[in-house]
Amino acid sequence: MDENISLRKDEHLRISLDQSVQEPVELGFSALRLEHCALPEVNLEDVDVSTTFLGRQLKAPIMISGMTGGTEQAGSVNRNLAIAAEATGIAFCVGSQRAAIVNPQLASTYLVRDVAPDVFLFSNLGAVQLRRGFGIAECQAAVDLIGADALALHLNPLQEALQTHGDTTFSGVADHIAEVCHALTVPIIIKEVGFGISGRVARRLLACGVAAIDVQGAGGTSWARVEGQRARMDRLVRAAEAFSYWGIPTPLCIRSVRQACPDLPLIAGGGIRTGVDAAKAIALGADLVAAARPFLQPALDSVEAVIDRIEQIVFELRVALFATGCRQLHDLRYVPITTRGTDLL
Ligand SMILES: Cc1cc2nc3c(=O)[nH]c(=O)nc-3n(C[C@H](O)[C@H](O)[C@H](O)COP(=O)(O)O)c2cc1C
Repeated sequence: MDENISLRKDEHLRISLDQSVQEPVELGFSALRLEHCALPEVNLEDVDVSTTFLGRQLKAPIMISGMTGGTEQAGSVNRNLAIAAEATGIAFCVGSQRAAIVNPQLASTYLVRDVAPDVFLFSNLGAVQLRRGFGIAECQAAVDLIGADALALHLNPLQEALQTHGDTTFSGVADHIAEVCHALTVPIIIKEVGFGISGRVARRLLACGVAAIDVQGAGGTSWARVEGQRARMDRLVRAAEAFSYWGIPTPLCIRSVRQACPDLPLIAGGGIRTGVDAAKAIALGADLVAAARPFLQPALDSVEAVIDRIEQIVFELRVALFATGCRQLHDLRYVPITTRGTDLL
C-alpha cells in the first residue's frame, strides 16, 4: 500500500512539471487589473509586505503549498523548500503525510525542523482519510512527527473520483473535521487541491471550527489533467478529459469566501504565479497567497533556486503595491479592480 502511495507521489511530481496540466481559466488573475496609480506618494523602499497570520509573523504573505513526501527525492524537495522558506520568512506546508503514518520508515522524508527550526510549518493529510481509520491520534501524530505549527487537511473529492481506487467516501467528513478541530492542539486549516472552495462550503467549515481556509481554486495545476495522464482505464481517461475545465476560478473563490466569512483568515492558492497575482488576490480579500507548482522545479534544483523564485515573487508584489500607491498589504483592499481594464473606459 505505502509503495503505491510513494509511486503515486513520484508520478505526481513528474507529471506536474508538464505545462499541459496547467488549466488556463477565463476568470483567472490575468483577466483582472488593479488600478494603476501614477502618483503613489510612497517610496518603493518603504513598501512593507510583512504580515501576521494565525499569530505568526511572516516577512511576506506567502506559503509554499503541500506537494510531496514519501520518497528520497521528495525528502530532498521538502528540505530545499523548508530551508528556503525559513531564509525568506514565509510559510511552508509538507505534502500528504499519509505515507509516513502508514509506514513510519518514510517519516524522514518529511522532517525539516533540523534545517528550518523557525519556519511556520504545516502538516498535511487528506480529510477523506478521517473516514478511513485516521482519527485524532493520527492527525496529532502527523503534527508531532514534523513539529508542525498547524495542520492542513485537504479536500480533494474530484481528484479521488478520477483516480483508480480513489477514495470517494466523503459523507460524514465534515463531522470528522469538527472533531479534529476541537481535539487538536494546533490550528486546522482546510485546503482544496485546485478546484476551489465556495463561500457556502467555507461557512460550513467555519461552523466546524476551522482556523483558516486555503481556497486552492482553478487556474493553476489541474488535478483532472494530472490524473488523466496517470489513468490506464479508458473510462477514467475520458472522464479526466471531460473535467479538464472544472472548478471555481481562484479570484471567484476569494470573493465568495470573503463575503461568506468576513473575518476568517483566508489563503488564496491555485494559479498564483507572480507577485502581481498575489497583489490581486490580496486586493480581493486574501490574507496570504499560496503556490505549489512554481516552486517544484526550483526545489528539484537547489535551495538557492527556491530562494530566487520566492524573492522574484516578493519583488513583484512590492512593486505592485508601489504602483497602486500602497504602503502596506492592507492598503490593497481599497484599490479598484477591473476586468481587463474595460471598466475604466
Ligand atoms: C506535485 C504536486 C503534489 C501535490 N501534492 C499535494 C499533497 O500531497 N497534499 C495537498 O494538500 N496538496 C497537494 N498538491 C496540491 C497543491 O498543494 C495545490 O493545491 C495545487 O497544486 C494548486 O496550486 P498551484 O496552481 O500553485 O500548483 C500537490 C501539487 C503538486 C504540484
